[in-house]
Amino acid sequence: MLDSCFYALQGRGMSATLDSLRRHELPGLARFELGEGGLIRLAVETLSAEAHIYLQGAHVTHFQPANSEAVLFLSRESLWEQGKAIRGGVPICFPWFGPRTGFPGSPAHGFARTSEWGVAEVMVDAGGTVTAVLELTSDDATRQLWPHDWILRHRVSIGSRLAMTLEVENRSETPIEFEEALHTYLAVQDARQVAVSGLSGVEYLDKVDGLKRKVQNAEPITIVGETDRVYLNTATTCEVDDLPGAQRLRVSKTGSATTVVWNPWVAKAAAMADFADDEWLEMVCIETANAGENTITLESGGVHRMQSAIEVLR
Ligand code: BG6
Repeated sequence: MLDSCFYALQGRGMSATLDSLRRHELPGLARFELGEGGLIRLAVETLSAEAHIYLQGAHVTHFQPANSEAVLFLSRESLWEQGKAIRGGVPICFPWFGPRTGFPGSPAHGFARTSEWGVAEVMVDAGGTVTAVLELTSDDATRQLWPHDWILRHRVSIGSRLAMTLEVENRSETPIEFEEALHTYLAVQDARQVAVSGLSGVEYLDKVDGLKRKVQNAEPITIVGETDRVYLNTATTCEVDDLPGAQRLRVSKTGSATTVVWNPWVAKAAAMADFADDEWLEMVCIETANAGENTITLESGGVHRMQSAIEVLR
């Protein structure tokens, strides 16, 4: 039953055409085009940065500030198919994170990342920052998987930093409970050399050690094997320091109590069909989230916002 609902969901979307989207374009700054696999994306190019945002999943796949390297990792083996998650960039996980407890047929990380979103508006402010607002609304297909009414808005601002705000509005008569993540794949030169700071003393669930609850004693965190950790009850900013001379990135956030650190390492990378065997060296995920015991309960009519901002420090 859940499987068939998911396939119905996968078949949705691609309703927008390039022609229907032209009215949102900002000449010289933001245009809609066919990207990888013929999927529609918004290409932004300003004096400060360039970026790509796919309508499928409201998925930011590329962000590169002027005079810097690309900030987001994107797999060269990503599938570019309607209804299939893109591997890299910033997938949106909603309304659950990871596998859905008690519902084995449900899609991992929810359905937001594989749904076609609509465009509400694209604007530019006086400082030249371009902001795109994408929307996803509950419908019969989503209600079969998750029986609630809601609207999601994802605001993506392209300036010298990348700022993303995921907004959830509860349009149901009753409270809703959900998990969410901006599952950010940061590009690094060598995952074995990176140092992740900002989580000292924070408790986490270690998904590669039977979900044991541990405390982050060692700082900075280094990647020395498969790493899949759900840091709980933390609002702190993280920094990712790459090789000497390479980039130092900062991930700051609001409205988020969970941070996930993930690198698949060798064996898991080899087992992933949409990820090249050696690409685990090129990425580390620092995910701004609300998951597990930080699940959000949102009253009827309520709005919850989670923001993540990524900037290059060096
Ligand atoms: C991470 C999870 O957020 O996403 C991992 O903590 C998971 O357990 C990873 O493997 C990738 O998930 P997916 O569904 O995109 O392969």
